[in-house]
Amino acid sequence: MTKPVILTGVRANNDLHVGNYFGAILPIIDMARRRSAEYTVNLFIPDLHSFTTPIDHSQLFDSIMNNARVYTAAGLPLDDDAIQLYRQSYVPAHSELTIILNNFVGFGEMERMTQFKDRSRSNDRVSVGLFDYPVLMASDILLYNARYVPVGDDQTQHLEITRDIAERMNHKFGELFTVPEPVAKQHQFFGKDQGLRIKDLQNPAKKMSKSDETGKGVIFLNDTPAAARKKIMSAATDSLGRVHYDKEAQPGISNLLEILTLVRQANGRAVSLQQTIGEFTGLERYGEFKKIVADEMSEFLASFQARLAQVDDDTILRKLESSEITANQTANQTLLRVQKAIGLRR
Ligand code: TRP
Repeated sequence: MTKPVILTGVRANNDLHVGNYFGAILPIIDMARRRSAEYTVNLFIPDLHSFTTPIDHSQLFDSIMNNARVYTAAGLPLDDDAIQLYRQSYVPAHSELTIILNNFVGFGEMERMTQFKDRSRSNDRVSVGLFDYPVLMASDILLYNARYVPVGDDQTQHLEITRDIAERMNHKFGELFTVPEPVAKQHQFFGKDQGLRIKDLQNPAKKMSKSDETGKGVIFLNDTPAAARKKIMSAATDSLGRVHYDKEAQPGISNLLEILTLVRQANGRAVSLQQTIGEFTGLERYGEFKKIVADEMSEFLASFQARLAQVDDDTILRKLESSEITANQTANQTLLRVQKAIGLRR
């Protein structure tokens, strides 16, 4: 009896910030911990997907390791055998299945992918790798017979194309692949709007993102508590002069209320956004409010960084290597099934 599979990939990223942490990493780690009794949870680092945006190749290997360290410091239990943690490029079947599936996917289908269209518009050298990104992603999912695939809104189209490819292949060659659940079912399963989306401190109209040039609106996980305090104290607010949760009229203050809620929770205080709002609404001194946010943020960063410093690289490498053995076994079984179906193997 095999347990259903939950699978998701988190791209290696050198400078993770609190927006990544609270918006993506922590919800995934919490999900993995909650679900691992009933599901097999595959968390993998899609390192072959890293080249689709310009990267510093000399940093790649270390940023992959660093991501695994951050997950561990965020609470990923490395001793749970129901959770697999592996690197895509250590399982060659991902590449091999991609080359096969490429022949069953239309050029026009790939050209219509919005992420491809967006990125190729802003990029003058559009690589075949970027074009083929969704097929590699389909291989990531289909090799492991995954049913549930939590992804952000920007990836739902890629999940739909994965379903299309799986159904097309099953129709042509018999039951080859498990078709992942449709996006609506995924949302039902994981809960839509997981986690709050932290905004840039200087420009609360946009998502916190490392592409912010000044870095003043972004709190990186490796910022010193003092640097983070400064960024919060100089966060953009408004001239209304009263704390109130209103994303339209007071986006900066609303963002700080959300940040405060998340870091309080991370610091072990079980408070909801509603409670935080109730506690601070009406306060007229923004400086006082910001100081409270800054204190909680400093506490969070200090304890996170202490946990990160204690993470042991050898333990992580052992986990990666043992998961990669299991991942290769599962992936190679699926690959062989495909190779037989299309006539490459007897
Ligand atoms: N494309 C995903 C992202 O940018 C990462 C990813 C690669 C992924 N392969 C995947 C996510 C397979 C889920 C399943 O976020």
